[in-house]
Amino acid sequence: MALKRLGVLTGGGDAPGLNAVIRAIVKSAANSHIECVGIEDSFDGLLEPGLTRILTPRDVTGILRLGGTILGTINRGDPFEHPVSSGGTHDYSERVVDTFRKMRLDALIVIGGDGTLAIAHKFFLRGIPVVGVPKTIDNDLVGTANCFGFDTAVDFATQAIDRLHTTAEAHKRILVVEVMGRYAGWIALYAGTAGGADAVLIPEIPFDIGIVAQKLRERDRWGAKFSIVVVAEGAFPRGGKMEVLEAAQPGIVERLGGIGARVCEALAVATGKETRSVVLGHLQRGGAPTSFDRVLATRLGGKAVELAKQGQFGMMAASAPPDIVARRLEEIVGRIKTVPRDHDLLLTAKALGITFGD
Ligand code: F6P
Repeated sequence: MALKRLGVLTGGGDAPGLNAVIRAIVKSAANSHIECVGIEDSFDGLLEPGLTRILTPRDVTGILRLGGTILGTINRGDPFEHPVSSGGTHDYSERVVDTFRKMRLDALIVIGGDGTLAIAHKFFLRGIPVVGVPKTIDNDLVGTANCFGFDTAVDFATQAIDRLHTTAEAHKRILVVEVMGRYAGWIALYAGTAGGADAVLIPEIPFDIGIVAQKLRERDRWGAKFSIVVVAEGAFPRGGKMEVLEAAQPGIVERLGGIGARVCEALAVATGKETRSVVLGHLQRGGAPTSFDRVLATRLGGKAVELAKQGQFGMMAASAPPDIVARRLEEIVGRIKTVPRDHDLLLTAKALGITFGD
């Protein structure tokens, strides 16, 4: 059956490059005489009325360089476990399937992270012809070498570290930078290396604050009177726990934050030096995508349309340099890609003298 009409939605936390994917999908679909329907606010757009609109090339002109997503997104909208105002959750998945059919869509392209793609896979099993596009600034999705948004986040964090370097050096202080990365320390590892950090603390390696402090005292002894410590939000001390701001609830993932401040306090005590901390937070998710992310997003969007045209559903467009390939969604759901202890960048960083607190 020829593909005539496809839906597209964005789900989960936003990432720079989402608009570039939407643009690539809409333009390449239009050139193949396929109509695109934009669905707002992730799967909620198939639950509530009035949240869909036709997208033409005119609608996506000029959005390549914009952060955010013109379709809006949510990260607490699993239709299978949708929070309801009276408390608890309700399964609205049947309504999503009905709406999809009533809209006479031939395919649904879902741009999202592990949570959103897991939902997409469940709908594929319920008969919706789904194609996934991987997205997360954390770069922790399995099956794809890169996710768009990661390069932009690392670039921003690196620039922030560069700025902190000058003030840290001027005041002979320790500056602690908390970056995103819930269960994987890719942003901390890459930005820490690119920014020349002295310590990088990641969720994969529970840290010993004494080891970090010792490293920073050594720097003092040989004359570097300042230090930069990069901490992923999901990092935690050996024998300790992650800093949770908001506990997980059905259909809603936990919110982390605060480990940077804890590390800062502990280092002040352990080193006797002046310390300051800063949380980069959502600044890492905002703003224009880098050229790398624009190209990656465009390639993934183009591939997703190709997969839909070929009827390859239940698949995800993925980066496998130098190619863009197709991966089965079922192979990636429920798993995340963490930093392996033998990753070359981790080993090189250690060889250079960066401590991971282990
Ligand atoms: O998953 C991407 C991410 O940026 C995480 O690094 C971070 O913990 C989370 O999103 C924050 O999400 P929210 O927008 O709900 O605060």
